[in-house]
Amino acid sequence: MRLLVTGGSGLIGGRLCLEAVKMGHDVYAAEHETSVDVGIPVKLDLLDALSIESAYEKSRPEVVIHTAALTDVDLCERNPELAFRVNSDATAQIALQAKRRGAFLIYISTDYVFDGVKGMYRETDEPNPINAYGLSKLKGEVAVKKFAERWCIARLSTPYGIHKMKKTFPEYVIERLAKGESVKVAYNQFTSPTYVPNFCRMLLEVVERDMQGIIHLSGSTRASRLEVAVKVAELLNLDKALIDPTPLSELKLDAKRPEDSSLDVSKALQILKEKPITLEIGLNMLIHNLYELKAGGATV
Ligand SMILES: NC(=O)c1ccc[n+]([C@@H]2O[C@H](COP(=O)([O-])OP(=O)(O)OC[C@H]3O[C@@H](n4cnc5c(N)ncnc54)[C@H](OP(=O)(O)O)[C@@H]3O)[C@@H](O)[C@H]2O)c1
Repeated sequence: MRLLVTGGSGLIGGRLCLEAVKMGHDVYAAEHETSVDVGIPVKLDLLDALSIESAYEKSRPEVVIHTAALTDVDLCERNPELAFRVNSDATAQIALQAKRRGAFLIYISTDYVFDGVKGMYRETDEPNPINAYGLSKLKGEVAVKKFAERWCIARLSTPYGIHKMKKTFPEYVIERLAKGESVKVAYNQFTSPTYVPNFCRMLLEVVERDMQGIIHLSGSTRASRLEVAVKVAELLNLDKALIDPTPLSELKLDAKRPEDSSLDVSKALQILKEKPITLEIGLNMLIHNLYELKAGGATV
């Protein structure tokens, strides 16, 4: 299949391009400021409608996977206008072009569309975002439903994995603890940590099977940041005493976080061959891959 992946340099987009190429797809990887490593590069600036049109023109995709977004939750809170332009208005343009060109659109969304009061959210639960990032992504979802003809909205939560420029939370914890440094970790925010390669494989199954509608594709374990940090320390036999359990309020973040935005993945468990994995399995894979990378090998 001919795929256009927006955000081809991002944590999710980069890995998605790699997995899709491995599966034999023709992958056009949209790049903005950072260059892409895998796929055929196509320039894209979401703030420019002509650039969106030109990316479609050059790649002529059968499927568009729209991962690009302004993902810095605190920056979105400080600059909601930019968040709405990138995450909502541009998504409407992406959706309109998908419809015009008969492409299947997959929009990558977030657990932050929920308010976090109840937790373990299902696809049928009503979103109610409590920060600008969540609202901008929800507006993106609304635009996809309104303008695209064939669409899927895939939500995930706190992705972790390996990226050339970004360190996700488990890797940050490993580095601090290995150096004997303490780490402040929130104990009162719960999510469904998602191992990026697992997410990408589930998503590509959704693409290949042309599954439409909303689907939650996160890890299958609900956990606080504290629980993730403790699990990492246990798996690597690092000093747990260096983990400092901290209330979220003490971290002085600009945007409010939902207290429990964990996702129920029963639907994915039921219908996909590639299943959501537990936190323990995902962390073991991450640790294995970090080790392989250090030893000069390839990641799996
Ligand atoms: N990270 C999370 O915690 C999280 C949680 C749940 C859901 N999600 C969703 O998952 C998706 C992927 O997230 P991620 O973690 O992979 O994000 P990421 O690593 O921050 O990557 C974002 C990508 O978007 C691109 N981008 C940003 N502004 C752009 C613009 N104006 N025009 C074109 N491209 C632009 C970036 O390119 P440049 O770097 O070159 O600007 C980058 O490739 C997002 O839709 C996000 O909402 C993320």
